[in-house]
Amino acid sequence: MGIETFVMVEISIKSYDDVNLTDGLFVVGLHEDVDYPNYLEKINSIGLNEKTISLITNANKNAKKFGKNLLFLVKGERDEYLRILLVGLGKQDELDSNRIRQIGGIISLKAKELFAHNIIISNFYKNTVDNVQSIVEGLSLSLYEFNKYKDISEDKSNFYDLCNISIISEDLHTELEEIVKKTLIIAQSVFYARDLANSPPNHLNPAQLATSAISLEETNKVKVKVLDKYQMENLGLNGIVSVGKGSENPPKLIILEYNQGISGEKPVLLVGKAVTFDTGGISIKPSDKMDEMKFDKSGGCTVLGIIKALSMLQLPINVVGIVPSVENMPSSSSYRPGDILKMYNGKTVEVLNTDAEGRLILDDALSYGVEHYSPKCIIDFATLTGACIIALGSNVAGIVGNNDDLIQKIVRSSMASGEKIWQLPLFDEYLELIKSNVANIKNIGGRTGGAITAAAFLSHFVNELPWAHIDIAGTAWTQDGTIEKSYNPKGATGFGIRTTVKMLEQNLL
Ligand code: BES
Ligand code: MG
Ligand code: ZN
Repeated sequence: MGIETFVMVEISIKSYDDVNLTDGLFVVGLHEDVDYPNYLEKINSIGLNEKTISLITNANKNAKKFGKNLLFLVKGERDEYLRILLVGLGKQDELDSNRIRQIGGIISLKAKELFAHNIIISNFYKNTVDNVQSIVEGLSLSLYEFNKYKDISEDKSNFYDLCNISIISEDLHTELEEIVKKTLIIAQSVFYARDLANSPPNHLNPAQLATSAISLEETNKVKVKVLDKYQMENLGLNGIVSVGKGSENPPKLIILEYNQGISGEKPVLLVGKAVTFDTGGISIKPSDKMDEMKFDKSGGCTVLGIIKALSMLQLPINVVGIVPSVENMPSSSSYRPGDILKMYNGKTVEVLNTDAEGRLILDDALSYGVEHYSPKCIIDFATLTGACIIALGSNVAGIVGNNDDLIQKIVRSSMASGEKIWQLPLFDEYLELIKSNVANIKNIGGRTGGAITAAAFLSHFVNELPWAHIDIAGTAWTQDGTIEKSYNPKGATGFGIRTTVKMLEQNLL
């Protein structure tokens, strides 16, 4: 698949002495509650005189509110015009790395609008590792465009291949350059996942997703195995096979092994739901917004994005990714409400709604992973329930699991990455709700607590290993109720990649 995944920005760390303002866009940031920040004193050295600086510092207070910006065109010393972008930083004690990420995105989007190809970002924030990572995330992630299906002459901007960004720092250049490099690799992985998730269902079916996964072998660090329908039938992966039965596009089980850690050390297992299109099957969905169900593969795309990032960063860890992929269609060969399925781990499931298909493919993937890899912990990503969106809205993902330690670690990391994740409880009562009269369990638990009963279902398939399930139904793409973020353009977000890669990098899992 000719999917484009490159982040076409060059970002480097520079001193004021190394930059030339005349051919660029110079970005300064001002707080609404600080009259004259210290860093402005050094700016004289690059040709901004006191008059210009006071013009900027005296700008209307509203322009200094968080998220606002104002463009100045001023005459330089040799009569040339300089473009200066003032970005509002809001209150000084509220500027955290989440806000800096937003500001990074605002800068890129403004630069793009102005066709500025050279951007110089002054040191208006403390150059900590976290802050530099955040600004680079914002600068890069905001520039994503899904253009593959547009007539290039009409719509494609010429921004990507020309954009050069200098971030000013007075010290730590080598260390910060390293952060920039890593962050751009992660951004590239997010772009890869967004490209996959945004792809239309007629161009991305389970086989095509598997082909893309196989391309990750290029780095020589990942081994990819794909099980086809017949192999899955023979192995008894009946959940995946059954959900896939209604479609001409047969199901695939994609298994990715990344073994660059200590040999023999138990891996982290990542599982991702990849329903390339979810019509609901025989329990068919209403047609309104059904097109959005192309995003029902986002969990799987997140797992592929994470594995891509690991292999490019060459992290010394062991991770296994498992991505069950199906298309959920109604047809005479479809599985039905009333069917009883025997899952890979031997448990039987009464199907009461074929639209609760995600759990029927994840369960097999989870028990396959548990059996073959004895992981030290498991995280699954899935656009699993509309109920999760009702519970938490479309800006926060839900997390449910059997291990509070693991959950708390993920929740904490998510707050730093800006990919907010919040815990829902998994009390015994929820397990009661999915008991079946005719099988071990049923695939729906009634109208109440739907995000949790879905997780309760999955808990039957992890063999009590430490496990956390992340429901990204509301956050995997921008949708009704999504609060716009500069670094999440419309469409797929790649939610979960940044949080997870950071945790793996810091050896937190
Ligand atoms: N893929 C959907 C969940 C979903 C819905 C994600 C809307 C994002 C936006 C999932 O397969 C599904 O259909 N779930 C059902 C479960 C129900 C039948 C128990 C749902 O949420 O309605
Ligand atoms: Mg469904
Ligand atoms: Zn689904």
